[in-house]
Amino acid sequence: MSSLRITGGRRLFGEIRVQGAKNSALPILAASILSGGETVITNCPELSDVHAALDILRTLGCRAEFEGDTVTVDSSSMTGFEIPDALMRRMRSSVIFLGAILARCGQVTLSMPGGCELGPRPIDLHLAAMERLGASVARQGGNLICRAPKLKGARVDLSFPSVGATENAMLAAAGAQGVTLITNAAREPEILDLGEYLKALGVRVSGAGTSTVTVEGGRFRPFVRHRVIPDRIAAATYISAAAAAGGNIVLRGVEPEHLTAVADVFREMGVGLTCRPDALLVSAGGPLRPPRTVTTRPYPGFPTDAQPTLMAACLGCEGASVFVETIFENRYRHVPELARMGADIRVDGRVAIVRGGRPLHGAVVEAPDLRGGAALAVAALAAEGTSEILETGHILRGYEHITENLTALGAQVWEETERKDERWSTKGEGKGVPAARSSM
Ligand code: EPZ
Repeated sequence: MSSLRITGGRRLFGEIRVQGAKNSALPILAASILSGGETVITNCPELSDVHAALDILRTLGCRAEFEGDTVTVDSSSMTGFEIPDALMRRMRSSVIFLGAILARCGQVTLSMPGGCELGPRPIDLHLAAMERLGASVARQGGNLICRAPKLKGARVDLSFPSVGATENAMLAAAGAQGVTLITNAAREPEILDLGEYLKALGVRVSGAGTSTVTVEGGRFRPFVRHRVIPDRIAAATYISAAAAAGGNIVLRGVEPEHLTAVADVFREMGVGLTCRPDALLVSAGGPLRPPRTVTTRPYPGFPTDAQPTLMAACLGCEGASVFVETIFENRYRHVPELARMGADIRVDGRVAIVRGGRPLHGAVVEAPDLRGGAALAVAALAAEGTSEILETGHILRGYEHITENLTALGAQVWEETERKDERWSTKGEGKGVPAARSSM
């Protein structure tokens, strides 16, 4: 699919199941090489980033299969320790394989992960953690070469609660001799989920999901089965869609306690959120109120990944909303695209001021990155007329079945494929022919 067309102005009604968490599945796929055994991961979302991770596993010599929502990895036949440049370029977060390959093979070669749409994305904290655990780190041309014939448990003090650096430290520590103490660790639910996977693998882990994590390497179990937690950012995205378009939707399979900071903001805006066991009821009717300043923070603060889609929903607020993006340097690339739909947003460095209440109109826009692309879809649901979102490959990275899900909620969404055949997908009285099932 090369573009997504959305005709706005329809309220959303219905129920969808929210996918498994991309940012939990990826580090767990990396961790699956630690044991040299078999891992079965369920509730795994079908995303291009997940397929990229599976290709990395296969390149390393593992067997990796994806059936429905279940991934099976057999790392007994793993022989490699290099991630080719092409695969690193395909998915920047491939750096999450660093610690696990080092733990399994004692060495790892990967091309320096460049920056991405969000900014330079340095990995200094990852490399410092590897060195603390006894690895040598060298740069050769554009490659990074880490060697550690024997990883030894150590204290790793993170100067920033980096999610990826915490994960790489935990994975390398799982293969180290002795106990590793990680301080100022990231506290995201995905870290806790990785800790649960490692415990199931036989690794002694405590404090995952808190600022202080201890990991003691040891023997691994030959088989482990793990269910990935729900994707809290995908859930926040669909809440933004309901807030922008209005309506009543039910999100199944979400974990409300992962959404506390997000729910607080939407309730302030006048969106009704009711928690049920394994479901979240979202109702948005009247005009939205602008929330107090939204400042993105490490978990449990407001998540940076939910900032773009919340901003799109705030375009429907009567009044001004203020955003402060503290995590990434360049996470307002959706703003000029939203402006093409009539949005009035002023950006000054890390601060964005959204003047809501202006009518939005359909436009041809281009997804700048994963969450920015999702923000354009949210705005298109509220816009008058039809929008076309180009470069939907960005959205494919993180949202499973987004076309089907929005259609199931009553939105008018259709995909334009390369072959230029337009497929119209709508619920109930739609004139078009339902789109063939396609995963996003
Ligand atoms: C993870 O990225 C997520 N990706 C991101 O989600 C998410 O936005 C981010 O955490 C923050 O929550 C995955 O889990 C695959 P960080 P990560 O290390 O680990 C700086 C999405 O949309 N930093 O916590 O790369 C860095 O530059 C993606 O799903 C260093 O300076 O995030 C950034 O400013 C986008 N040195 C900040 O820390 C380092 O060594 C947060 O980065 C590492 C990070």
